[in-house]
Amino acid sequence: MEQQLNSYLQNMTLEEKVDQLLQLVGAFFEDAETDGQITGPMASLGITEETVRNVGSVLGIAGAEEAIRVQQAHLGKNRLGIPLLIMADIVHGFKTIFPIPLAIGCSWNVQLAEESATIAAKEASVSGVHVTFAPMVDLVRDPRWGRVMESTGEDPYLNSVFARAFVRGFQGKDLTNDTDRVAACVKHFAAYGAGEGGRDYNTVDLSAWQLREYYLPSYKAALDEGCEMVMTSFNTVEGVAATGNKRLMRDLLRDEWGFDGVLISDWAAIKELIPHGIAEDEREAAQKALLAGVDIEMMTSCYNGHLPELVRSGQLDEALVDEAVMRILKLKQKLGLFDNPLRGADPEREREVVFCEAHRAVAKELAIKSCVLLKNDSVLPLNRSQHIALIGPFAESGDILGSWSWSGSQEEAIQVIDGFKSKISSSLLSVATGCSIDEISEEQYAEALQAASQAEVIVLALGERSDMSGEAGSRSDIRLPQAQLELVKRLKTLNKPMVAVLFNGRPLDLHGVIEEADAVLEAWFPGGEGGAAIADLLYGDAEPTGRLTMSFPQSVGQVPVYYNHFNTGRPQLDPNTKERYVSQYLDVPNEPLFPFGYGLSYTKIAYDSVQLSSDTLTPGQALTVKVRVTNTGTRPVEETVQFYVRDISGDTVRPMKELKDFRKVLLAPGESQEVEFALTEPQLRYHHADLSFDSDSGEFAVFTGPNSRDTTEGRFRLVKETGK
Ligand code: GLC
Repeated sequence: MEQQLNSYLQNMTLEEKVDQLLQLVGAFFEDAETDGQITGPMASLGITEETVRNVGSVLGIAGAEEAIRVQQAHLGKNRLGIPLLIMADIVHGFKTIFPIPLAIGCSWNVQLAEESATIAAKEASVSGVHVTFAPMVDLVRDPRWGRVMESTGEDPYLNSVFARAFVRGFQGKDLTNDTDRVAACVKHFAAYGAGEGGRDYNTVDLSAWQLREYYLPSYKAALDEGCEMVMTSFNTVEGVAATGNKRLMRDLLRDEWGFDGVLISDWAAIKELIPHGIAEDEREAAQKALLAGVDIEMMTSCYNGHLPELVRSGQLDEALVDEAVMRILKLKQKLGLFDNPLRGADPEREREVVFCEAHRAVAKELAIKSCVLLKNDSVLPLNRSQHIALIGPFAESGDILGSWSWSGSQEEAIQVIDGFKSKISSSLLSVATGCSIDEISEEQYAEALQAASQAEVIVLALGERSDMSGEAGSRSDIRLPQAQLELVKRLKTLNKPMVAVLFNGRPLDLHGVIEEADAVLEAWFPGGEGGAAIADLLYGDAEPTGRLTMSFPQSVGQVPVYYNHFNTGRPQLDPNTKERYVSQYLDVPNEPLFPFGYGLSYTKIAYDSVQLSSDTLTPGQALTVKVRVTNTGTRPVEETVQFYVRDISGDTVRPMKELKDFRKVLLAPGESQEVEFALTEPQLRYHHADLSFDSDSGEFAVFTGPNSRDTTEGRFRLVKETGK
């Protein structure tokens, strides 16, 4: 097959090669004849119909009939009959929308995460999609950034575990023959989550050490799992915009890591090298991006406009164009598009598979496992005899799918009110919005008061609109909107039990609701089955088992706050003593409101002290770490037992804790289980100041517990041959 690809390449003109590197949205391909006039989008990009005939890929169409129509029309026009790659953002579901990835991360359920990607791939593929722009694996520490919703959180190890799971789900084991799968595209390379001030697209400036130790592992994990594509990020890395950054892309990604798959720019990111100030014009932008190894230009025409002349004038070696074209042709071949350009697109199967009951059942299960119970002062679970007042802008709202759910349907989402109606009769349920997302009127409040007056329990459904997070959704104030805090404050005066259910795409500053409510359930954006999942949890038909994978700060002033922080030379040893000259704030504690790994269940779980099989570990050995956990309550639970390590002293500073493993255990009331972890020397390796990756002899602490804060500790020494 390589021979066939080479013959395509040899037969292509230079212009045809360059156009193969261009990706356009579906609007360019609708077979509306433009009778030769360069109109609309083509005019704005300065491209011709000839170019569109030669284009290599299209994004944003998804529907079997449309995909079939566009592909067949394209094949009829493309001189060599080279099929299009069809790509789309299928980030947390196609039509069956799962919880946002930050919520999926909080499930700590790797198998369900993989299954959600498998389902998303199947629905997308029968709808004509070949490649998804996912998983997004950017490490996040700043909840002001709108795209934290798209990540699985602040830990490099856990993000890596989920990155692998998503790639397995999307791609399966045989992308060529299993047409229910799609190629995955890990993004955004690299360190897009570290934007200054949490402002989207903003400058990222990290040391090479921080980049490698914290921000790069999850991309590497996706690639080690066989991810076919990589997308560049909008930000700078070490002073150079990633999309034109040869050191990052060609030297590290391609040469050091050995990635020879397709590298696609993010939307317009090649042309944005100009405002970044590392290219004077589109010609220089094209040159720098190609030298960096970027194969596909998404929705700008720097390559199209300038690569032919750069090659003909000897400024660029045509071999660089050839290698980019070959990577794209190889991906088309791997997807079987030369033999079957329609691949999985099938209107009949689409009607049968997409949004089917079985898929929706998995979405509900994952939503149940993704919600995190943050507080419960004995008001949950509810019972079916109670009269409930369901109040808030999310009481009756389909806006629970979250960002990147463009192919889903808010209209068909199971809303919170639907969930309650499935549990209690309408005579026991009063509903009022009480306020909109960011405005409250006296009329709205009066309705809320009326609803609350008849109720035994008030259930508040509050949060952010889905467009208050996601791309370009950064917020400098991460509290709930004032109107909602006002509603909470007024309803609090009724002195009735209040439960708050939150819909948000980021950790929030929960002051104004965490004290006032007697229980708080973090639902994130739970996806299309969210209302049903929330009702099951609130009525105890399901157990809350979610655990945070991103810290909730005391206030935005504390940001960034994350569990795997360094100790500093002046740690605050005891928050209760008011030592002055230590690393602290005068007005808030150092600790977050809720730490990484935190979450409550309806039962109580007791942890015995951690036990180690030895007080030394040598390379080639495994240290066994055990902890006994007991369900001392009256309800069953699936507990996520977490295992952390701390390197007491290293070549560089070392974090106070690092998650190394976790285990889910099912515990019936009264049941006790001993959970075991095995620790080996490779798990203790880290990047030294000279960027070498190794472990050092010395003292370590191990921790186990229900979260990163409430742990018990053991100690051991790593003993390597002398001198290491
Ligand atoms: C956007 C996003 C990227 C997405 C791409 C295509 O700007 O940054 O994540 O895949 O454009 O929609």
